[in-house]
Amino acid sequence: MRLAIDCLMPETLSFADNVLTLIDQTKLPSDLVMLECRTVETTFAAIQRLSVRGAPAIGIAAAYGVCLARDTDGARDTDGARDTDGNRDTDGNRDVRARSAYGAAIDRLAESRPTAVNLFWALDRMRTVLESTSDDNLLHDRLVSEAKAIHEEDRQMCQAIGRHGAKQLHSCKNVLTHCNAGGLATSMWGTALAPIYELHQSGHAIHVFADETRPLLQGARLTAWELSQAGVPVTVLTDSMSGSLLRSGRVDAVIVGTDRIAANGDIANKIGTYPLAVLARYHNVPFYVAGPSSTFDTKLKSGDLIPIEQRHRDEVARPYGIQLVPDAADVMNPAFDVTPAELVTAIITERGIVEKPNAEKLAEHFGVLER
Ligand code: MRU
Repeated sequence: MRLAIDCLMPETLSFADNVLTLIDQTKLPSDLVMLECRTVETTFAAIQRLSVRGAPAIGIAAAYGVCLARDTDGARDTDGARDTDGNRDTDGNRDVRARSAYGAAIDRLAESRPTAVNLFWALDRMRTVLESTSDDNLLHDRLVSEAKAIHEEDRQMCQAIGRHGAKQLHSCKNVLTHCNAGGLATSMWGTALAPIYELHQSGHAIHVFADETRPLLQGARLTAWELSQAGVPVTVLTDSMSGSLLRSGRVDAVIVGTDRIAANGDIANKIGTYPLAVLARYHNVPFYVAGPSSTFDTKLKSGDLIPIEQRHRDEVARPYGIQLVPDAADVMNPAFDVTPAELVTAIITERGIVEKPNAEKLAEHFGVLER
């Protein structure tokens, strides 16, 4: 399957010559700017300020970020000069420093954002490679291969979600989504938007309502941008309009992505997802959640245990530097909320569909027999 965005958008992330190149999503939709990360710290900062965001994309970026440790602290000689031949230094100490720099990079990147489990899933894979590769000369290449495998697997998973989700949405003409769970949030195609691209590509007339998604406007800035690039009709609404839109009967289904699926099927996603699920249930509209297996957290029994990121007050109080809230007022800014499994019509994964998700169905679906 080759989707329209495949040729209309640069890749969300790419890695070549030990440089991680990202679309800087803080600049969209007005400017399409590529950001180059050459160090662990620039990758950390890019994840934290949401230049790269969306659960799968964060995991991929962090995996590549680990590889950049080679050219930061661990790859310097004691006199501060850089070697030209990677990790092979004559004094032998450099290999040890590079190895510990990779470990430190994994620890550092794990602190960038707390909610999307894909970050920890990807970093665990990188740590496994680090710990299982005893030959220092092979280490960097092995880490890069693993990061590329994580990236490629995400492409495959998103495509498969697109195929399964398109069957689920085959009778829909108008769908409502929240935040951005598209190509910008993943390697390409997305999770919640992958079925939309699949349907659009096959000639099915599909129109998307996109919540603007306060406070950082991922729906207005990113979902509307990437759908427009692909020629998919999209209408942006403020978050507070979704209730009356659902009441009007103009929405056939709601579909969102997710940052973490707990073992019992509760899901964390962008703040505002939970009220949307409640509204969908009240109005009898199916509420679908699309996510790859890398978003499934078998270790957490329920959504109550999912760590919720609290972001800076200025995102609410001073968006784009404009003061909207008096300094004396407190501000809440949780980045995510948790939707209980009972409000989810089905979870769409790369393996298929889990209707009315619960712990038993998800364990069976993902082949997790013991927890
Ligand atoms: O804070 P963000 O922009 O990283 O939040 C992203 C979301 O909530 C997405 O819906 C989620 O990561 C799914 S991405 C396929």
